[in-house]
Amino acid sequence: MPLVTTTEMFEKAYKGGYAIGAFNVNNMEIVQGIVDAGKAEQSPLILQVSAGARKYAKHIYLVKLVEAALQDSEDLPIALHLDHGDSFQICKDCIDGGFTSVMYDGSHLDFEENIKITKQVVDYAHAHGVVVEAELGRLAGVEDDVNVSDKDARFTDPEQAVEFVERTGVDSLAIAIGTSHGAYKFKGDPYLDFDRLEKIGNLLPNFPIVLHGASSVLPEFVKKCNEFGGNIPGAQGVPEEMLRKAATMAVCKINIDTDLRLAMTASVREFLQKNPSEFDPRKYLGPARSAIQGMVQHKIKDVLGSSHKI
Ligand code: G3H
Ligand code: 13P
Ligand code: ZN
Repeated sequence: MPLVTTTEMFEKAYKGGYAIGAFNVNNMEIVQGIVDAGKAEQSPLILQVSAGARKYAKHIYLVKLVEAALQDSEDLPIALHLDHGDSFQICKDCIDGGFTSVMYDGSHLDFEENIKITKQVVDYAHAHGVVVEAELGRLAGVEDDVNVSDKDARFTDPEQAVEFVERTGVDSLAIAIGTSHGAYKFKGDPYLDFDRLEKIGNLLPNFPIVLHGASSVLPEFVKKCNEFGGNIPGAQGVPEEMLRKAATMAVCKINIDTDLRLAMTASVREFLQKNPSEFDPRKYLGPARSAIQGMVQHKIKDVLGSSHKI
């Protein structure tokens, strides 16, 4: 099966009350680990590539790796998505270069400018059979203490979300309700604004919402990293039960990168510390790939609910 867009995946996920995992890919072992998990769970997948990943591995290598994974994946629906495109040009390059979905992230811009560039990307993408995700609102950072007035200033405004979707024609929208990127998401108790999510879902019926910054930073993996020479103190993610709840609401795409990084790094650290005389990269990258697969299978089965949904 060729690469697909996210349209059908999201329609089914919305109706079925589950979400599709969007996992960041940077090299062969990560692509293989994720796709092997998708095969084992018979789950649709979104493989997403950031600007940093394109810089690290080169666009062409990532596209060819994903093409190889498709050939090896027994008819699994897979979308190839640009994560956080910050200009029309990078979105165009990915549309022209084989992606089936792009994100234009204008969340740092003012409302009108965000609409203007998002619409430009949507027009180009739709003319080429590609779907577009945009972002409205700013994701919180751990340095930010979220109080009530901050929430209204930074979290996605439901009425603005409706106007944004109508004026841009975008296919999905990433919203800010309290998640943030990386391993340090909350200083105190984790909090997501589910009332806001519900309101956005009611105002935009059947429209797929995206959650960025949705890693859970599972303590066992942080502990393993630290036990084998790492130094990641005070890391905290979004509790998995909150993500399960979001997946039953309007959220159809859940972005996970940090949890894959932690799984891979914990595995490599453990192997190298336990086997100081080994220097064959396959010896530690093999288990690292299996660690990615294990993490993705866990997410699909226990968090997203996308097993056996192809
Ligand atoms: O949202 C960011 C993703 O985790 C990708 O991170 O820009 O370091 O590749 P990156
Ligand atoms: P995490 O850092 O929580 O994994 O978020 C990843 C993400 O949002 C990629 O766009
Ligand atoms: Zn993101």
